[in-house]
Amino acid sequence: MKVGIIGYGSMGKMLLWKFSEKGSVISEDLYAFNRTIEKLDEAGQIAQIVSAKELASVCDIVFVCVRPADIKTVLEDIKDSLKEGALLVSLNGSVSFESIRATLDCKTAKVIPSLTAEIGRSQTLVCYNDKVTDADKSALKELLTSIGDVIELPENEMGMGSELVSCMPGFIASIFDVICNSAKKHTRIPDDQIVRMVLQTMSATGDLMLQKDMTFEDVVTRVATPGGITEEGTKVVYSDFPETADLLFEKTLEKRRKTASKT
Ligand SMILES: NC(=O)c1ccc[n+]([C@@H]2O[C@H](COP(=O)([O-])OP(=O)(O)OC[C@H]3O[C@@H](n4cnc5c(N)ncnc54)[C@H](OP(=O)(O)O)[C@@H]3O)[C@@H](O)[C@H]2O)c1
Repeated sequence: MKVGIIGYGSMGKMLLWKFSEKGSVISEDLYAFNRTIEKLDEAGQIAQIVSAKELASVCDIVFVCVRPADIKTVLEDIKDSLKEGALLVSLNGSVSFESIRATLDCKTAKVIPSLTAEIGRSQTLVCYNDKVTDADKSALKELLTSIGDVIELPENEMGMGSELVSCMPGFIASIFDVICNSAKKHTRIPDDQIVRMVLQTMSATGDLMLQKDMTFEDVVTRVATPGGITEEGTKVVYSDFPETADLLFEKTLEKRRKTASKT
């Protein structure tokens, strides 16, 4: 099975190198193209660097890893050369199957990886249009397990699903950045040590909850004894943070709707 990647930015580069590192696709069967083609010089040993048209004409699975505003250009470029029966995979959660079909009517999947794929722990979201067969789904799923777990969702849940796994590393990083900056005002512990302490605790709390099947409430109850110090802090979070969290999702989902309407 030949696999092609169009767009060698954050996501395309990650997928290309992961598929190669994990041995999911041998270099003879791995193809890549990027608008600024020189960026692919570093990938010459792990993939065949070809034009988008050539890539589309030989690959069984074609990943389109470009920003939403560039997707139509790519589809126009490859629409007459796409191999018969090939599976087109868009990495964007906002661009609908309907708008893709307006340019290229073919088997299509949407795949949303997370940055945590870098350490093989992506929660990759996937959905399919009605042309995709069970065999196509299995082939794609097998490929994606090289970067972590795969979660199938209906197309109409890909937006919110993306917020929860793909945007979430950014949300988590920014929330804990704010917390660390606030902590720094009250201590002489070096900044980098504060960040490491919080990160290790954050990561261990997640593992604890997953391994012991604990809920957020379980953790809060175990740590925040009534009348104690932790409870003072958790009360602030539960009273003041919900408004910020609601605003966060209102803004991101609104942006998602605007992006979808422009493509
Ligand atoms: N970043 C994430 O965490 C993440 C997670 C899930 C999904 N996604 C989605 O994945 C897609 C790609 O995101 P990204 O973060 O990888 O973007 P990115 O870093 O900006 O990379 C986009 C790449 O697409 C290339 N490109 C643009 N137009 C092209 C064309 N016509 N033909 C070939 N290559 C072209 C660009 O080439 P140049 O070098 O010429 O600029 C660039 O290398 C987006 O739709 C995004 O929503 C991203």
